[in-house]
Amino acid sequence: MGIPIIRTVAELRSIVAVWRRDGLKVAVVPTMGALHEGHLSLVRAALAKADRVIVTLFVNPMQFNSAADLVAYPRTEYDDAVKLAPLGADILYAPDAADVYPQGFATTVSVSAVSEGLCGAFRPGHFDGVATVVTKLFLQTGADLAFFGEKDFQQLHVVRRLVRDLDIPINIVACPTMREEDGLAMSSRNVRLSAEQRLAAPKLPEALSTSAERLSAGAPAELVLAEARQVILAAGYDEVEYLELRADHDLSPLRAADRPARLIVAAWLGGTRLIDNVRVPSSESAVRGFRAATAAA
Ligand code: PAF
Repeated sequence: MGIPIIRTVAELRSIVAVWRRDGLKVAVVPTMGALHEGHLSLVRAALAKADRVIVTLFVNPMQFNSAADLVAYPRTEYDDAVKLAPLGADILYAPDAADVYPQGFATTVSVSAVSEGLCGAFRPGHFDGVATVVTKLFLQTGADLAFFGEKDFQQLHVVRRLVRDLDIPINIVACPTMREEDGLAMSSRNVRLSAEQRLAAPKLPEALSTSAERLSAGAPAELVLAEARQVILAAGYDEVEYLELRADHDLSPLRAADRPARLIVAAWLGGTRLIDNVRVPSSESAVRGFRAATAAA
């Protein structure tokens, strides 16, 4: 049997009301469609933790900076529904843009601090768009749990912050980035890569993990990041938009992995912008190495 596709908030709410009356735990997996194994892993994680799972599919115009990017974004609703059916997700909620943003829509949810820098610096307004639509989806579904991938690490922080700040009663569950066999992070944008670009693409996660090891061993971020940029460009990437070491718990900038950290990157390969991040475990030697390097400077 196929997965039911729901288009309106009214219909969604009446279904969720019955689940609530029956005391069921509800999870939501927000997506923009073009589902790949990364999304499906979120759905599986949601199914393991909740009685009912809503997958949302909405290509949110408010979070795109470029009209061309919005037009080019893959739209594969039929295939997405086919992929979801065997997993056992309960509803695919795919509203129309005119219903999400009706005439006169005038509200923006804006999360400062964590939205700034990284992707926020290069995609003005992007996180306002994400925060606004995610808030709507949380309020429309009334879910108890929401599942997000760690690949969009800054997005995860933005969503956690808005839920805390607006007292939205939903638990945010973070799931690890799913990768192709060669290490490339799964993304709906990967289909845009040419065969040649696809071969070069895994050099990005490779550079991240090599750099993470060096940082964990105590190397100063400035040196490691400068070398990693060169490696990424030499591999065929056209531009490294940013490559930064940030604290895992609040995204504050770090000069060494002297606490649990993330190495976060956005880079362009041809016309495709890829993002990725890896965890950088802190270690005593990182703390000692950083102190020694700053003392010698
Ligand atoms: O990560 C995404 O696919 C989108 O940013 C999200 C969370 C579905 C909001 O449109």
